[in-house]
Amino acid sequence: MGFIGSNFIRYAMRTRPAWTIVNLDKLTYAGNPANLADLQSGDGGGRYRFVLGDIQDVALVTHILDDGIDVVVNFAAESHVDRSILDSTPFLQTNVLGTQALLDASRGRPLGRFVQVSTDEVYGPAPAGVDFAEEAPLRPTSPYAASKAAADLLCLSSHKTYGTPVVIGRSTNNYGPYQYPEKFIPLVITQALENESIPIYGDGRQIRDWLYVEDHCEVVCRLVEAGQPGEIYNIAAGTGVPNYDVADQILKLVGRPVSLLRFVTDRPAHDRRYALDDAKIRATMGHSPAWTLEMGLEATVRWYVDHPQWWRPIKSGEFRGFYETWYSRQ
Ligand SMILES: NC(=O)c1ccc[n+]([C@@H]2O[C@H](COP(=O)([O-])OP(=O)(O)OC[C@H]3O[C@@H](n4cnc5c(N)ncnc54)[C@H](O)[C@@H]3O)[C@@H](O)[C@H]2O)c1
Repeated sequence: MGFIGSNFIRYAMRTRPAWTIVNLDKLTYAGNPANLADLQSGDGGGRYRFVLGDIQDVALVTHILDDGIDVVVNFAAESHVDRSILDSTPFLQTNVLGTQALLDASRGRPLGRFVQVSTDEVYGPAPAGVDFAEEAPLRPTSPYAASKAAADLLCLSSHKTYGTPVVIGRSTNNYGPYQYPEKFIPLVITQALENESIPIYGDGRQIRDWLYVEDHCEVVCRLVEAGQPGEIYNIAAGTGVPNYDVADQILKLVGRPVSLLRFVTDRPAHDRRYALDDAKIRATMGHSPAWTLEMGLEATVRWYVDHPQWWRPIKSGEFRGFYETWYSRQ
């Protein structure tokens, strides 16, 4: 019940009426039942079921798979780079050992596909003018990105060794409704709505290619349906923008002054630019994003404006401790 997983479940329930979904989630700080409050176990004529548990629990995963599951999609992860710099242990546990546990439980089964949700961060920073294709070397710079790269390699080795029908999607930064407010775009929006200062790392010129979460969800659905086992697919929006400009656009949308922006010491090893060549997925899946950054930011800002009851409790809870520890280290 994290950000992308909950959006994916809602999207797939709506657009893929033949699918039945079992959602296994440990409900960490980032796993929020409120993200799927509109969907209860048993809904959709029994098309949706929730199981509380850890992907590292091979016995539990085996039990779930025995129930006639034919596709695994792995969204479960520790996902925040800053937290991985403070403590990498849970990242190795869930992202590396957890992925291997899912692969172990999947081994030898007649699965249609095992879709691993990966990230552009495994490639590390892209030099100006270079868009990384799927064959680019893996050069992760944060513990988070290194753990995701390790997971990708474990998935590919499982495909080669045991024939697990692994398909890897490496997407650029996502944004949209239900994103935990430690991440850049919801942090800017919610701090602005509260008239609080907004931390911007370094000079704010780091470039990210923002993908609206619904576009990512559609691609993951297509990978489930038609991804080629053993293949990696880059998933991009094609609109690289500096962080400062994104913050500036958001401030305009919420009607707050740029004086709220506060430049803070850069994140260690902060990747300057991410950029992917997504020609493969465009050619093989006929995919191109439906959302421009302007449309997506407008929809996202509107969602946070309309749902303070979702984000206010988060910001006064666990988030506060992390925020104060992380930004006071500057
Ligand atoms: N958010 C992005 O911009 C982005 C971009 C590219 C790829 N990804 C990848 O997409 C996936 C989802 O990212 P997100 O932003 O939705 O993350 P998130 O932090 O919002 O959600 C992670 C979810 O995983 C669950 N989880 C964590 N450890 C678990 C475990 N051991 N067992 C079961 N469940 C566990 C959490 O409870 C939570 O529901 C991750 O694999 C991430 O690496 C994210």
